[in-house]
Amino acid sequence: MFSKSSIIGVIGSGAMGSGIAQVAATANHSVKIFDSNPLALSKAENQLKASLAKLVEKQKIDSVKADQTVNNIQFSNNLSDLKDCDLIIEAIVENLAVKKDVFSQLGNICSDKCVFASNTSSLSIASIASACKDASRVLGIHFFNPATLMPLVEIIPGISSNQEIVYQCKLLVDSWGKQTVIAKDTPGFIVNRVARPFYSEALRIYEEGIADIPTIDWAMKEIGGFKMGPFELMDLIGHDVNYIVTETVWTQLYFDPKFKPALSQKRLLEGGLLGRKSGKGFYDYAENAKNPEPTKNLDLGKLIVSRILVMLINEAADTLYLKVANAADIDLAMTKGVNYPKGLLKWADEYGIPNVVKELNGLREFYEEDRYRMSPMLKQKFLTKTTFH
Ligand code: NAI
Repeated sequence: MFSKSSIIGVIGSGAMGSGIAQVAATANHSVKIFDSNPLALSKAENQLKASLAKLVEKQKIDSVKADQTVNNIQFSNNLSDLKDCDLIIEAIVENLAVKKDVFSQLGNICSDKCVFASNTSSLSIASIASACKDASRVLGIHFFNPATLMPLVEIIPGISSNQEIVYQCKLLVDSWGKQTVIAKDTPGFIVNRVARPFYSEALRIYEEGIADIPTIDWAMKEIGGFKMGPFELMDLIGHDVNYIVTETVWTQLYFDPKFKPALSQKRLLEGGLLGRKSGKGFYDYAENAKNPEPTKNLDLGKLIVSRILVMLINEAADTLYLKVANAADIDLAMTKGVNYPKGLLKWADEYGIPNVVKELNGLREFYEEDRYRMSPMLKQKFLTKTTFH
């Protein structure tokens, strides 16, 4: 269905769209990228050239490849230029009405064979596809930031997607050197759902006063083996993005208490303390700022890690239980999409499912909150004495 000569369209030349265009152009596709804002287009073109020049400097590619990649991309401020595309990936503002409007316009511009994908992180593919002439040719293709570096791509069939088209899109993205996983069209797909407790349980531990922010980050890095602590990562992502993802997943899952956002993060957002990008979030990023040191207490550190870890495992198990994805894809998604040191289901097997069950039951008993309810999948593994892998 797709070949090297397939023309790839990208709509939106912001952080994600420009990265996706670079990935497809590096794989030698002819790429057409459209943005309604001319300034965003010229910024993307300059950034692409700068990013390729850096790769040449680091000897990752030669200058011929860099020139080829630039020449493969046509920057356009006219949506009609995308009329001969075989696949169009939309990466514009996260707003359903705006996305629907663009997709409905594309129906009158493109051929009946063109496949339409959205890079949305939180909207339902079903609702986006409802704006298209033929919903069977619409799916989600969800890259991670930065798209040029992060290997994971979630492929999300919509309720009306043609399975063969979905499969061909998966093969195409695989051919770009990415690792694809298939996720059901559910809030947060795999990564943005399973990762929620990494932030929310850390916030809860902090709000309860069990440990302070640097101590929680220290524990998750030094004992848990994560590349970044939850608070450092929230500051890096920005609270305007991270908090909103949490809130969106929570509301779309009918206010399931497992996903309830934290007020301490909401206050940062309301106060404009967005994290690194605004100079201050949970940490102060001013040049001479003095941030508190962690309390390097091993017992406390282990307690923090195990509490966050069992909540992550519980969510991974529930994601499997609800058939959002299979076990191999859930583990691959968390290691390749957010750099977790291990797949969570593999981690559960190693940690011992009886240990996970015991700790979760302890939390549930103590707090008497639905937030700590155990996934039936975990319970089933425990009762049948089986493992995930
Ligand atoms: P961005 O704000 O960097 O870029 C969006 C671009 O879309 C802007 O250049 C804007 O001018 C353009 N645009 C807005 N409305 C348009 C329209 N009607 N027609 C054409 N162009 C239009 O946004 P970003 O971060 O690149 O996000 C894009 C999409 O990717 C969103 O759906 C977001 O949820 C998703 N996403 C974002 C990730 C991230 O970490 N930033 C990660 C994965 C997905």
